[in-house]
Order: sequence, then structure tokens, then C-alpha cells
Amino acid sequence: MALLEVSDLVVGYDAFPVLHGIDFVVEEGELCVLLGLNGAGKTTAISTIAGLLRPRSGQVRFDGKGLGRKSASARVASGIALSPEGRRVFPRLTVRQNLRLGAWTRRRESKTVKRQLDLVVDYFPQLGEREDQLAGTLSGGEQQMLAVGRALMSRPRLLLIDEASLGLSPTLARTVWEVTSRIKADGTTVLMVEQNAGALPFADRALIMEKGTLVYTGVGDQLREVNLREAYLGA
Ligand SMILES: Nc1ncnc2c1ncn2[C@@H]1O[C@H](COP(=O)(O)OP(=O)(O)OP(=O)(O)O)[C@@H](O)[C@H]1O
Ligand SMILES: [Mg+2]
Repeated sequence: MALLEVSDLVVGYDAFPVLHGIDFVVEEGELCVLLGLNGAGKTTAISTIAGLLRPRSGQVRFDGKGLGRKSASARVASGIALSPEGRRVFPRLTVRQNLRLGAWTRRRESKTVKRQLDLVVDYFPQLGEREDQLAGTLSGGEQQMLAVGRALMSRPRLLLIDEASLGLSPTLARTVWEVTSRIKADGTTVLMVEQNAGALPFADRALIMEKGTLVYTGVGDQLREVNLREAYLGA
């Protein structure tokens, strides 16, 4: 059984349909990259999984159970955390306060919170060095790390990351993907939205979305066999 199953998902804004019935799965333990150009519908898809948008029809199943109309916060409690597009950290709170807010659903489990804090700082040592600094004073790359770190604080089984590499230098983008690979290797399943095909080598599964439809799905060695990067950029 897949950890995440999306079936025939239709989502739109008002009268305007954006996702035209998409189907995919993410198996437990995988790093799945959802690739697509500007406006393809990636954020719409990942926001629906996180419970921020309601689908018109179709289903999202997590760990074998339909999520139905479950709220975003209830989804966090059941193991789904989102690092949103555009970083959206709390600029007037410190790095540590931002991270602690990510652990809200586990606020009564002080040992878990402490362990997750140590883990996040281990993944992103810069955040440890800047724990008392206001998040608004961090560099773009550090804010992105904080957004991912904050999502990790709820100790999710499924981590959703929306365009972590946007606006980062190629070196910094690589660093974020490498850490994401480590997070996966340590046991957290990851669904990562990207416009940048540079993320493909890190993927166990790749999905390519065009205008609200999935036009390619591949796993494992299939990803190495075809020149996906060219196919995607040529699309
Ligand atoms: N709040 C909204 N109201 C109306 N239309 C929207 C809204 N948000 C997104 N859209 C439209 O839905 C489509 C898909 O947008 P979405 O943000 O999901 O794409 P994306 O793949 O995440 O793009 P990007 O890579 O630029 O973040 C676009 O045509 C966009 O204009
Ligand atoms: Mg987006």
C-alpha cells in the first residue's frame, strides 16, 4: 500500500479548473519530485494534499485512509507537513520560535520537540548558529531552510516541500536537495515540488505536470534511462 494515493483529483479556483483529474502514488520511504513549469498546478496539488484547498472531486488517501474534509491542522497531526511556497516564515519571531511553532501539534511531547530541534539543527547547522536571530533578518537560503525545518518539527511521515530551490544560487539549491535526500534516507517520505530539473537526480519517483495534467510518471532506473531533463525542457 502506498503512503500517499491521489486519485482523479479535480481542483479549481471558483469557476476556473486547474487540476483536471490527476492520479499518482508516493510509496513510503521515497523522495518524489513533482516537476512542472510556471502555472502547471503544482502548488494547487500540494496545497490540496495539505488540506488548504478542497478538491471538487477525487480523493487523497494517506496511509490507506481517505482524508476527506480533514482540516490542514488535523492533517499535520496525522503526519503530513508542508513547507509552503515562498518560505513564509514568521519574520518577527526568532529562528527557535519559528521552529517551535512547527511542533505545535506535539507541544505536549517535550522530548520529541527537543529531539526534532536537534535533528533540524543537524540538517541545517546555520539555523543552530542563528537560533536567537529574527527570521526576517536571515538570507533567502536560510529562510528556506527554516521553512523546511519548521515543517520537520511536527515529525511528519510525509514532508511536502513547495519549490525550496526558488531564488537560490545553484550551489545552495543543491545543498537543500542534498539535505532533503538525507531526510528521506532517515525515514521521512518526501514529495517535493520543483520547477528546476536539477532536482531530478535526487528523485526515486518523478512526475511531470503540464497544465493541470500529469504527462509523465517514472520510478527508479527509468529516470536514468530517458533524458528526462530534455523531455521536460522541450515540453
Ligand atoms: N488563488 C487563485 N485564484 C485563481 N487562480 C489561481 C489561484 N492560484 C493559482 N491560480 C491559477 O492556477 C494555475 C496553477 O497555479 P499553481 O500556483 O498551482 O501553479 P504552480 O505549478 O505552482 O506554478 P509556480 O511554479 O509558478 O509556482 C495557474 O493558472 C494560476 O494562475
Ligand atoms: Mg507554485
